[in-house]
Amino acid sequence: YTVTFDETAAQKGGFDHFMLKEIYEQPQAIKNTLNGRVAKGEKIVLDKIADGDLKDISRVFIVACGTAYHAGLVGKTAIERLSGVPVDVDIASEFRYRNPILDKNTLVMVISQSGETADTLAALRLAKQHGCKTFAITNVVGSSVSREADFVFYTYAGPEIAVASTKAYITQLIALYIFALYMAQDRNYTDKETLENIKSELLLLPEKVKKALETDALTKEIAEKICVETDIFYLGRGLDYAVAMEGSLKLKEISYIHSEPYAGGELKHGPIALIEKGTVVIALNTNAELRGKMDSNIKEVVTRGARIVEILPDNFENAGEGCDELITVPATEAILAPVTAVVPLQLLSYHVAIAKGCNVDKPRNLAKSVTVE
Ligand code: G6P
Repeated sequence: YTVTFDETAAQKGGFDHFMLKEIYEQPQAIKNTLNGRVAKGEKIVLDKIADGDLKDISRVFIVACGTAYHAGLVGKTAIERLSGVPVDVDIASEFRYRNPILDKNTLVMVISQSGETADTLAALRLAKQHGCKTFAITNVVGSSVSREADFVFYTYAGPEIAVASTKAYITQLIALYIFALYMAQDRNYTDKETLENIKSELLLLPEKVKKALETDALTKEIAEKICVETDIFYLGRGLDYAVAMEGSLKLKEISYIHSEPYAGGELKHGPIALIEKGTVVIALNTNAELRGKMDSNIKEVVTRGARIVEILPDNFENAGEGCDELITVPATEAILAPVTAVVPLQLLSYHVAIAKGCNVDKPRNLAKSVTVE
């Protein structure tokens, strides 16, 4: 009697694919990112950053590629809202060739799961030449960006094998929230109570993401209906727009369905021309303040025959009017909503790719880490 041991299957820990395993590891990954940095009633602690190290920073430039860039877009809003420090976000390959205006009070933050992406590394070096302080958010201990940046924030998501990034993205979001809180704590821009509330909510996110994973079965059902589409649109406003960009990227990366994200308000400036009877629109609607506006955007596309999959927090009343499929996720602070909202989008992409028989973990033409320009 012999037992055959399949090493890859063992590494997948009972899941069919690394991507699904990594999606399910997110609650633990978030805990690892928060660990030792955020505690109720206590100041945020960042590794090897002393009080005052960042006090002269008057502007932040976030630079990254792909999914990490999408995390940066969420980071911009979080840092600006909480600390009042203006933030620019740029794609690394654009940043390095645009002659960006940089000075010694600019903090250039690079975000890179691998810490080895060629354009991101070049952007970091350029920032250093300009005398900027540099800060790296990365998952890989000892990676190039971690060695070269002045300050390093490790996400501790654990190894990410699937090409499509999931747990690395979600922990980059957590890292950015922690950084935003750090920047806010001595600047007196946001009151202490609000900051404490956000901290408490951050600490609840592992549980809330676990709850959001319960959308798995529903996203599978929806995926089996929409996997025949050739074009799918994602719609959102504010932070939901940044999440729409990530959701759309995830879908196209692994299912090869053409998809595009749009800001709700931009609809009438072009994209609405593409909406026909039956067009699938995934609408993110997590922000109470923007909900009225988003509802009208949804109506605009429904009138033209769109089928709507709507993502909403579970505390909204009269949810889902006019939508064909409703996915609810645990409600949290508006600013943290991307963390729960992205989960069903990851699962949806996964299930669409499976329904189409695609190689989920190794999509065609894509590499996990792009170390050449
Ligand atoms: C590649 C990967 C993406 C990733 C991007 C940036 O394109 O396929 O998933 O977001 O590189 O990678 P990095 O390691 O710098 O985060």
